[in-house]
Amino acid sequence: MAETTVLGILASGRGSNLQSIIDAILAGKLAAEIGVVISDKPDANALKRAADLNLTAVCVDRKQYKTQQEFEQALVNELKLHQVELVILAGFMRILSPYFVHAFANRIMNIHPSLLPAFPGKHAQEQAIQYGAKISGCTVHFVDEGMDSGPIILQQAVPVMPDDTPATLAERILQQEHVIYPQAIKLYIEKRLQIEGRMVKVVDR
Ligand code: GRF
Repeated sequence: MAETTVLGILASGRGSNLQSIIDAILAGKLAAEIGVVISDKPDANALKRAADLNLTAVCVDRKQYKTQQEFEQALVNELKLHQVELVILAGFMRILSPYFVHAFANRIMNIHPSLLPAFPGKHAQEQAIQYGAKISGCTVHFVDEGMDSGPIILQQAVPVMPDDTPATLAERILQQEHVIYPQAIKLYIEKRLQIEGRMVKVVDR
């Protein structure tokens, strides 16, 4: 069997990006396997999606840990237990400390629903509308110690329509998230991403 890269997916909620990655694997577009899906929320729909497909689904509930460090140690232990090579944040609504980032240095990706560095943080779609932006989109980036600040891998723009609400813009952006997240993971798996400072170069192989 061809070699596959083991992914660990961290998701707090709905899990539509998780689903897009699962779909890409099932369609034979990604030489990856999902080692574990972890949520910090016991009732996350992402856990249900994973369990329905017989993937290993684990809740690491922040409330069960006294400190952020202990919580993150539990995450790292779970990821290592399942031999995870690349960590995928897919709607994981917690900031991770340098401890976690160093444990998987240059091996953590995130997707954010804006064209970074515009509109980092929460409610990115609402921020774009309130700012009056005509174009927004989504960004896949490596995770560094800052918030939504790591080297950018792929971006896709979408228009912001005059009558958009945060929900309609979020839906338009989400469709593109489901396209570029699997693409970025594929580039990583194919060893086509070279990080040079803030720059991620996509090289031919
Ligand atoms: C997406 O909009 C993603 O950009 C952001 O959180 C949301 C997660 O959605 N980081 P889902 O749980 O993957 O459906």
